[in-house]
Amino acid sequence: MQQLHFALLASLLLLLLLPGIRSTPTDQKANIVHYQPEQVHLAFGERTDSEIVVTWSTRSLPPDQEVGAFSVVEYGQPVDGQVRLTQQARGTATKFVDGGHKQATQFIHRVTLRDLKPNATYSYHCGSDFGWSAIFQFRTVPSAAVDWSPSLAIYGDMGNENAQSLARLQQETQRGMYDAIIHVGDFAYDMNTKNARVGDEFMRQIETVAAYLPYMVVPGNHEEKFNFSNYRARFNMPGETDSLWYSFNLGPVHFVSFSTEVYYFLSYGFKLLTKQFEWLERDLAEANLPENRAKRPWIITYGHRPMYCSDDKEYDCNSDLETYIRQGLPMLKWFGLEDLFFKHGVDVEIFAHEHFYTRLWPIYNYKVYNGSAEAPYTNPKAPIQIITGSAGCKEEREPFSKDLPSWNAYNSNDYGYTRLKAHNGTHLHFEQVSDDQDGAIVDSFWVIKDKHGAYPAPQ
Ligand SMILES: *[C@@H]1O[C@H](CO)[C@@H](O)[C@H](O)[C@H]1NC(C)=O
Ligand SMILES: *[C@@H]1O[C@H](CO)[C@@H](O)[C@H](O)[C@H]1NC(C)=O
Ligand SMILES: *[C@@H]1O[C@H](CO)[C@@H](O)[C@H](O)[C@H]1NC(C)=O
Ligand SMILES: *[C@@H]1O[C@H](CO)[C@@H](O)[C@H](O)[C@H]1NC(C)=O
Ligand SMILES: [Fe+2]
Repeated sequence: MQQLHFALLASLLLLLLLPGIRSTPTDQKANIVHYQPEQVHLAFGERTDSEIVVTWSTRSLPPDQEVGAFSVVEYGQPVDGQVRLTQQARGTATKFVDGGHKQATQFIHRVTLRDLKPNATYSYHCGSDFGWSAIFQFRTVPSAAVDWSPSLAIYGDMGNENAQSLARLQQETQRGMYDAIIHVGDFAYDMNTKNARVGDEFMRQIETVAAYLPYMVVPGNHEEKFNFSNYRARFNMPGETDSLWYSFNLGPVHFVSFSTEVYYFLSYGFKLLTKQFEWLERDLAEANLPENRAKRPWIITYGHRPMYCSDDKEYDCNSDLETYIRQGLPMLKWFGLEDLFFKHGVDVEIFAHEHFYTRLWPIYNYKVYNGSAEAPYTNPKAPIQIITGSAGCKEEREPFSKDLPSWNAYNSNDYGYTRLKAHNGTHLHFEQVSDDQDGAIVDSFWVIKDKHGAYPAPQ
């Protein structure tokens, strides 16, 4: 009897101790140092023609390193097909702590490569003597001048699950089809999910694209958590605005990127909305200085949430089909973008957010302003808008309204993405690629303009 009691007591004690024994390996895991670079991606620097920013992550940072010694890019132009990494550039590492309860930590490294030669191939790897990435390659733009024809792939709303277009984009990138990619908001679904591990996985998924060409981005509503902290930490767009808004020139195009989210998440600061609006006014005015517009005639904007709705369920459109982006804040009508873009003769406006592709006839204030009935996009009298939010994500496709509005020129529910080739100062060509239909082009159109700048007064 006595012995039985003792045995029971002993096993009880052991049971109590076990969790403690079991937890040891987990504790050790948390302390494992991990210096391997991952999630490598590129962006244009301040000077599109000669600067590339390389960004990557490591879990840990070795102690006692001099600043920059752990954030190194070795790079160079191949000679006779042989990789030569003869140049070196150093940058900075920033500690990023996700706002989730586990406070997941990583270090995000940023290095700017400067004075790159135009129209040149460079090989590079990044990291430090504690661990190097694979060797990647990129091509610089042909020249700072306008007389070349950039090709881009453009899409929004690509997730970590169901990223249906990604495989095709990887292949086309590796074949050298694009000079840059523009991802018009909504990444990973969401980057902060599972203590930012979904963001890490997404950045690893797109590495096969983004480590080879500039991956230009803009924030969407899915980036909102913790004041857009994952978005701001992981991407390095030009300018000093935490990548929220910026512009860059590519061939004959001036691209203007802006955050539609400053209109919706006012709790993060009304100031962001006013600052962005003032910046947009300045940037567009400068692009419209006669010498600038003559040299670089096209102005193309991109932002996540569209101005016009083609979707009944779209919560951004109230019963009057009104959006903050188009008209400005409710009631006050402050900071509306349709008037601003019309006034400054913006040529094309690209949006995403709705999980489909839509092309609109040239439009201003709900009225269609075709160039002519036969050629609506030849010298149109208002900006042309497209919505391209169907790269693929776990929230799947979205339905169109039963009665499509009269300004809708074309719709597709297929997963896919948009291609843009800016041929020259008078001709732009757009294509919509359907991934569902094995890469078929389901829509294509030319935008032709002999003259850019302010539109005629609306009738
Ligand atoms: C860029 O280089 C390629 C060869 O690599 C050449 O065919 C092309 O003409 C060059 N473009 C310009 C604008 O110099
Ligand atoms: C959110 O982040 C922006 C910088 O991107 C900053 O200007 C703003 O003050 C932040 N808002 C809050 C509430 O922290
Ligand atoms: C604009 O052009 C398209 C294509 O020709 C046509 O279907 C549409 O009715 C035109 N809209 C107006 C208002 O002229
Ligand atoms: C601009 O590009 C278009 C399409 O490639 C071409 O037809 C046109 O001749 C070009 N214009 C000039 C001035 O080169
Ligand atoms: Fe969205």
